[in-house]
Amino acid sequence: MSDTVGARPRLYGRSKGRPLRPHQQRLMDELYPVVRVENQPNMSEFKEVWMEIGFGGAEHLLHLAQGNPETAIIGAEPFLNGVAKAVGGIHDFGLKNLFLHHGDARDVMDSFSDHLLSRLYILFPDPWPKSRHNKRRIINEAFLEDVSRVLKPGGTLYFASDIIDYVDWTVTRLNQNGRFSLVIESPSAWREPYPGWPGTRYESKAIKAGRPCHYLKFRHAA
Ligand SMILES: C[S@@+](CC[C@H](N)C(=O)[O-])C[C@H]1O[C@@H](n2cnc3c(N)ncnc32)[C@H](O)[C@@H]1O
Repeated sequence: MSDTVGARPRLYGRSKGRPLRPHQQRLMDELYPVVRVENQPNMSEFKEVWMEIGFGGAEHLLHLAQGNPETAIIGAEPFLNGVAKAVGGIHDFGLKNLFLHHGDARDVMDSFSDHLLSRLYILFPDPWPKSRHNKRRIINEAFLEDVSRVLKPGGTLYFASDIIDYVDWTVTRLNQNGRFSLVIESPSAWREPYPGWPGTRYESKAIKAGRPCHYLKFRHAA
C-alpha cells in the first residue's frame, strides 16, 4: 500500500472488505452516482450543511440524516463496504438529504465553498498509535487549515475517540491552530456521548474492550 495519495500522506488502511452482495452492487452502480456529493449542483435548499468524516458502518450518519431532514448531510468514507451501507440506508429510508463521497474526505473538502459547513463530525478516527505512523492521523496542521476554511464561524467540530493519546493530540493541535475553543458544558461532558447519540461500531468495540470513550466539541471562532 502506498504511503501517499497524490501529494498527500495516505490516512487510511484498507478500502475494501468482503465482496458486495448483488443488491448492494446494484445500488452502488445506480443510486451512488445520484447521491454523490460531486453531483449536487448546490445545497442552498437546505437549512444547513453538516459533514461526517470516516463514517465506517454509517450508523451515526444515517441517524443524523433521518433526524434532520432539513439539513444536508455529507458523508465521506474510503471503505467501499461502509459506503454501500450508507447507500442502502438512503434507499431503504427514502432519504433525500444524504450525500456521499466514496474516498478521502480531504479531496471533497477541496471542492467546498468557504464556510459551507455548520458542523463537522470526526468519530473514532483511525488512531495510528505507533509514533512512526502518527503523521497519518487526520487531525494535523494542514487538515485543520482546511477545516477552518470550510467550517462557519461559530460552527462545531465534534471529535470522539477511545484513545487518550489521540484526545490529547487533538486538543493540543486545535489549541495550536488558535481558531477553535473546547466547549466545556459540564465537568463530565467529555465522558458522556452527545445528546441523541446512536452509538457506532468502533465505540461499541472500545466499550467491550474496557476503553473509556471521550466526546469533545470545539467551537470554530473564525
Ligand atoms: C476507526 S474507523 C471508525 C468508523 C466509525 N466512525 C465508527 O465510529 O465506527 C475510522 C474510519 O475512518 C475512515 N477514514 C480514514 N481516513 C479517512 C479520510 N481521509 N477520509 C475519510 N474517511 C477516512 C476509515 O476508512 C474508517 O472507516
